[in-house]
Amino acid sequence: MLAADLNCVTSSASMADLAPLRTTRNLVDLAQDLEGITLVWDDGRVSRFTAAWLRDNCACPQCRHPQALERTYMFIDHATPTILAAAIGPGEVVDITFAAGSESHSSRFTKGWLREYGCCEDALREREFTQRLWGSDIASRLTTVSYADYMHTSDGVRAWIDAIQTDGVALLKGVPAQPGQLLEVGRRIGPIRATNFGDHYDVVSMPNPNASAYTAMGLELHTDLANWRSPPDVQLLCCLKSTVTGGESVFADGFMVAEELRIADPETHGLLSTHALDFRFHDDSCDIRARAPTIELDRAGRHLQVRFNNWLRAPMRLPEDVIEPMYQALATFWRMLRSPRFHLNVRLEPGDLIAYNNHRVLHGRAPFDPRSGERHLQGCYLNLEDLQSRLRLLDRV
Ligand code: OGA
Ligand code: ZN
Ligand code: ZN
Repeated sequence: MLAADLNCVTSSASMADLAPLRTTRNLVDLAQDLEGITLVWDDGRVSRFTAAWLRDNCACPQCRHPQALERTYMFIDHATPTILAAAIGPGEVVDITFAAGSESHSSRFTKGWLREYGCCEDALREREFTQRLWGSDIASRLTTVSYADYMHTSDGVRAWIDAIQTDGVALLKGVPAQPGQLLEVGRRIGPIRATNFGDHYDVVSMPNPNASAYTAMGLELHTDLANWRSPPDVQLLCCLKSTVTGGESVFADGFMVAEELRIADPETHGLLSTHALDFRFHDDSCDIRARAPTIELDRAGRHLQVRFNNWLRAPMRLPEDVIEPMYQALATFWRMLRSPRFHLNVRLEPGDLIAYNNHRVLHGRAPFDPRSGERHLQGCYLNLEDLQSRLRLLDRV
């Protein structure tokens, strides 16, 4: 008799999650069959879960490492499970007993967890945040956070991360204008993403520059490190000195420009998102190359990344009949980027630190006269995962 063989383990209701998922919705019905369960919620949502999926996600200490909280259950080593029993228990947990060959196993799922993961595909498509595309209008609503709030309050750092997620750009004011201070700002989020330029770099006009940024030239709108397979996500630029004539910063929302291009000229947008270009940076110590399209889309066709950097662009390796159309397409995109209606113009003063999503927001600067005074910025990069992680930690209750 099967019941005699039951080796039941009732898991705790923690779901092996340091921040338990909660929902204000209630369960009104549960129907079971061998292959799975169907839950009905009080707002009418119906969530179907298959037996194999549920079994795979059991969070009991047998199936998840009790400290690491990572999955130790390996479905490949077990027979395909079926549902033996399922019921809504007190506190609106769902208790399930599975049968798999001669084995059985009991699992407990909380309703908050089931609500989170039992989403229909439409809910999956919702972003965790809403992107706000912008043009020059952002100047009047650019998120500005004081250094003190950012470093010492949850609300400050949350506002800054929110702005990077939604607008792709945020300004910090009042950062002590000391070398290396931007690293303290970065470390409030997570580890600094190092590159061939080190963990941070000084943007000054220098006698033997190995990059255009280290001259007094104007820099057209660009994304940094386009020659990397995965360019850094978030760039921090901190101003230490700014007494020169010129050198003002300019930013543009690449997703806004690409969205307008998609509507105005879908063929050009298609060319820029289909064909990869080559990028390269090399100096005495490195030679780093990548090949990727100017506009990268996700599987749903949404903008994922813009990669635009004229001085890192290497010779195109494209079919001959694509070369001329590609030059035309790049020129069209570039002309749009030059349009002031997309520009956020900022003159960075000592103590200002601007941060932006380098996959979305392009940056540039006006030329400056190095004899007219001093200009000194420092830059470094962060991973977007670390920003998102910091936000989740702030939300942990
Ligand atoms: C850079 C850069 C802009 C500036 O360092 O990547 O683009 O304002 N600098 O100097
Ligand atoms: Zn288990
Ligand atoms: Zn740059």
